[in-house]
Parts: sequence; structure tokens; C-alpha cells
Amino acid sequence: MWLQIKCSRHEIVKGQTLKLRIRVIQRAAYLAMTQLHTISIQNFRNCQHASATLSSGLNLIIGDNAAGKTAIIEALWTLATGRSFRTAKTQYLIQHQQDSCTLYAEVHSSHSPKSHRLGLNKSLHKTTLRLNGETIKSQVAIAQQLPVQLLTPESHKLLEEGPKARRQFMDWGCFHQSPDFMPLWRNYQRGLKQRNHALKKHLPKAQVQLWDQTLVENALKIDHIRQDYLERLTPYLMTFCQTLMPEIKDEVVCQYRAGWPKNTEDLLALYQQNYEKESHLGHTQYGAHRADIRFKFAGQEAINTLSRGQQKLFVCALLLAQASLHEQVLNEPVIMLIDDLPAELDETHRIKLLELLQVLNIQHIITSTAESLIPILVPETTKIWNIQSGEMVVKPLSAL
Ligand SMILES: Nc1ncnc2c1ncn2[C@@H]1O[C@H](COP(=O)(O)OP(=O)(O)O)[C@@H](O)[C@H]1O
Ligand SMILES: [Mg+2]
Repeated sequence: MWLQIKCSRHEIVKGQTLKLRIRVIQRAAYLAMTQLHTISIQNFRNCQHASATLSSGLNLIIGDNAAGKTAIIEALWTLATGRSFRTAKTQYLIQHQQDSCTLYAEVHSSHSPKSHRLGLNKSLHKTTLRLNGETIKSQVAIAQQLPVQLLTPESHKLLEEGPKARRQFMDWGCFHQSPDFMPLWRNYQRGLKQRNHALKKHLPKAQVQLWDQTLVENALKIDHIRQDYLERLTPYLMTFCQTLMPEIKDEVVCQYRAGWPKNTEDLLALYQQNYEKESHLGHTQYGAHRADIRFKFAGQEAINTLSRGQQKLFVCALLLAQASLHEQVLNEPVIMLIDDLPAELDETHRIKLLELLQVLNIQHIITSTAESLIPILVPETTKIWNIQSGEMVVKPLSAL
């Protein structure tokens, strides 16, 4: 079976006309694949034990309010990233009266003949990570095996709130595509923490400035990776904006902000000049930790010109752009978690999004309160579960 989508448009990058063509060709035998194959969730929120073998396409989890739908999405996100999107406190994740929660997944990848077994156990004071039966120290290896993206009814906050969510969005891509990014970011964070500590405690100037060189070196490299990532992402974003919101004729512009004033020629000198002010503030004012992206249409910030519905579509376009670039660079699709899809999009756009996910070969795990709200486009790669009090029961497709 061949299935093709072609979208073309023009974009000016550094004064050149670049013709972008997103061309997705699906052919059963040559599919690049990253797939959550089996999952198991224990003592997480209201879910005492749920396990499932997932489909490579649409996985639909249906349940009433408080059945545990978001908990399943949250569990998968927590396994992939080490943190929840609802709380920073482990105590809320662990089921009441239990000491720990355990999350497990088997991931199939076309890059490796064997599947990967990922595990995470969280108790109040300890997190244990396992990869293929071995205990590992860092979340990085798990995150690399499980490139998941998340869309929730809160996702439009990416535009609304402070720059942290937009940095996380950008850094997701940098992390997966640039092996250097994570060590640079860690070094930067370490330096920043020390420098902020020295500033806050009013330690001697030399102890603050001890960290300036490290910060500057890492910040400039991080900046370079981020700029490059956004430059490559923008044409995809334009295409998906046009696909999802054809009514908007203006092209989206991504304005990247490094985290220090635009005209800065010497970041080290800036730190030195700014010392008195920072010493007063008690923290480092400029750097990679202050980066941001502004999305604009016709010179206006997206948050000010798009309707709430369009803001949600814009976030979908951002994720799809990121997913497509990821596929292009790493030759593996991402996995998309979508909580409460009907709360996100109207029917026309739900169908559009589901078609795009299908064509982009993205395994998707979607929750909804009602089955009738989610169109089943490809029954062969669809699985449906009913969830009640955190317990998942698969529903035979013949019952559709
Ligand atoms: N730590 C916990 N232990 C037990 N139950 C919990 C815990 N945290 C939340 N819950 C309960 O889990 C249920 C499922 O919540 P949620 O996943 O948000 O449901 P849904 O998304 O289906 O509406 C809620 O009834 C909530 O009170
Ligand atoms: Mg929910």
C-alpha cells in the first residue's frame, strides 16, 4: 500500500528561497518504527494495575470523568521524561496507601533488532530506573528510547504562560537531535546554580565570576543548537499551520530570543558589566536559562491574534512540525499522547489531526469520554479500551 502526502511552500531562510517538501511515503515493509508495544502501570494514581499491548496506530482509551484516563497518559509521560505534567510531587502519583509506583514499557524500534524494556519505580525518596534489566542512573537513556510528545487541554498554555514551556518545547527537539545538547545543558545548569548561590549569599565577587566563563561557553553552544533547531523547524511549522488553519493567510514567524540582549557582542563582558545589578537581584539575569521563542503572525504575537481554538491548533502544528523533523533527522517516528482530544478540537479538526497522525506514521494514544467523538479512520491499526477505576479492559473491534 502506498500513501503519499505532499505539501509544498516557500520560505525565505537567510535570504534564500527554500522549497520545503514534506513527503511522507508509507510502505508497510519499509516503515521506520518506534512503537510502545506493551505497557504496565502499577499503583499509579487510581490505577492499581493496568497492562496493555498497544496497536501501532490509534489507541483509544474511553472512560467517564475520574476513571483514570489522564492518569494513564501521565504514567506514560512520567516513564518517558521522569516527571509528571500535573505535579512535581511524587506523593500525588503514588496510589494512596502504597509505598511506590512502577511503570514499565516495552518499546520496539526499527533501529534495533531487540525491543527495549524500560522501567521506572518511584517511592517518596527514591527513583529507580531500569533499561533492559539493568539499573541505570540517568533518565536520558530512557528518554532517548521513548520520544513521546504530549497534547493536553492545558497545552495552549505554551503560548500563554512564561517562556519555560516554550524552552522545554525547543529543548525537546535539541535533546533528541543533538547528542551534545544534554551535557552542555547539564554543565550550564551546574554553573548557573553555583553562580546564583554565590550571588544570593553575597559571596565575594571573585566567587561569582569564577563561573562566568563556564556559563558563557556553554550558553553560546546551547544558543547555536537552539537557533539551528528552530531554523530547521520553521518550514515544517509553516506547512502544518497552513494545513490546520488554512484561513490564516499570513505565515508564522518564529522569533528566537537567546536570553540576553540582541546586540550583545561579548556575553562575558555583559556578565561583568552587570555584576552590581545581579548581586542586588541575587540571581543571574542573562543566559541560556532565559531563552524564549515568540510566534508571530503579521507582526502580532500569536497569543494576541489567534482565537482559543486556533491557539490549540497552533500547538498541534508545533507538535506535528517537531514530529516530522524528528522523523526526518532520526528516521524514527515519535509517539503522541493526547489527553481528552474532544476537549481540544472540534470534529473537523479532530479528523484532520487523526489523518495527519496516520499519514506521519505516529503511534497515538488518545483519551476521550465518549467513543463516538473519535473517528476510527483505520480499524486495522486501532485498539480501544474502556477504563474504569484505573482498570483498562480492551474492547473488541467487532463491537465498533
Ligand atoms: N494518588 C492517588 N491515589 C489514588 N487515587 C488517586 C490519586 N491521585 C488521583 N486519584 C484519583 O484518580 C482518579 C482519576 O483521575 P484522572 O486520571 O484525572 O481521571 P480522568 O482523566 O479519567 O477524568 C480521580 O478519581 C482521582 O481522585
Ligand atoms: Mg482527565
